[in-house]
Amino acid sequence: MQKEGQLEGLVTAGVRLPFFESAAVCRYGWIFAAGLAIPRIRDSGRIRAWRCGHGREMFLMEQIVKELPQHIAIIMDGNGRWAQQRGLTRGDGHRAGVRAARQIVMACRERHIPYLTLYAFSKENWGRPRAEVSLLFSLLTRFLGDEVESMVANGIRLQVFGEVDTLPGPVRTALESALRRTAAGTAMTVNLAMNYSGREEILRAVRRIVALGVSPESVTEDMFRAQLYSAGQPDPDLVVRTSGERRLSNYLPFQTAYSELYFCDMHWPDFTPDELDRALEWYAGRERRFGLTSDQLSEK
Ligand code: FPP
Repeated sequence: MQKEGQLEGLVTAGVRLPFFESAAVCRYGWIFAAGLAIPRIRDSGRIRAWRCGHGREMFLMEQIVKELPQHIAIIMDGNGRWAQQRGLTRGDGHRAGVRAARQIVMACRERHIPYLTLYAFSKENWGRPRAEVSLLFSLLTRFLGDEVESMVANGIRLQVFGEVDTLPGPVRTALESALRRTAAGTAMTVNLAMNYSGREEILRAVRRIVALGVSPESVTEDMFRAQLYSAGQPDPDLVVRTSGERRLSNYLPFQTAYSELYFCDMHWPDFTPDELDRALEWYAGRERRFGLTSDQLSEK
């Protein structure tokens, strides 16, 4: 197949394909910026450019782009176990977790993922030892301060999912400032789930609808969605949880009804952009049926 020949040429030339190296490329094909067909595809306005090694641009066809998740939600689990395995403190584990989070935000930005949600602190996390809770808040406060410039420079808009009012003063101040400063970002939205509980989010939405005086028969899904923290955003297509646990732990229970769930055994500090690419490749191979049959999907 010519496409595969082109692919081989690319690989031999040392150009690293970000992912789709095997399955998706062969299934759908791709066009490299060697001149051919590019103007036509570019004009269709349905592709995104991908900058890769050697300063070249690679163009992925619409079908492949379609297989990128629009929204990834991550449960960054395992900082404590990562540290324990190395004879370090849990605090060291969380610090390493912050470094991993920073890398993954940028990796998602580079991969044109428009929405990323990170589970930073759940309501249930308040039950941890006081010293750990306050360390987590001080790390998150520092993260917000350190990252805001880079978020603004990269067109990243920050949002919070959770109850901001009851967060400790310094983290609230850092959050409010980061929200304000990044508000104009249009390239990507990063949601920090902080002081978040999925069931509480659902109850909050119900209370808000009741307070609007809406009659039971006029309550619609759209109206309900508009009262969630995620109002106006697409549901997560892909949920990633590290550290071997296979559950969602009260994370976005309404929004993840049709999400693809990717679980891996490594602890969060070891989750690198290469691991993200593995998750994206796995996602690209999923058939998302939303209740339909395979045949119906192929007829579409
Ligand atoms: C899980 O590790 C992680 C958390 C409780 C959330 C905190 C996450 C970070 C500090 C990562 C950085 C986040 C941002 C947004 C900068 P765990 O303590 O539950 O690990 P364990 O299950 O091994 O004990």
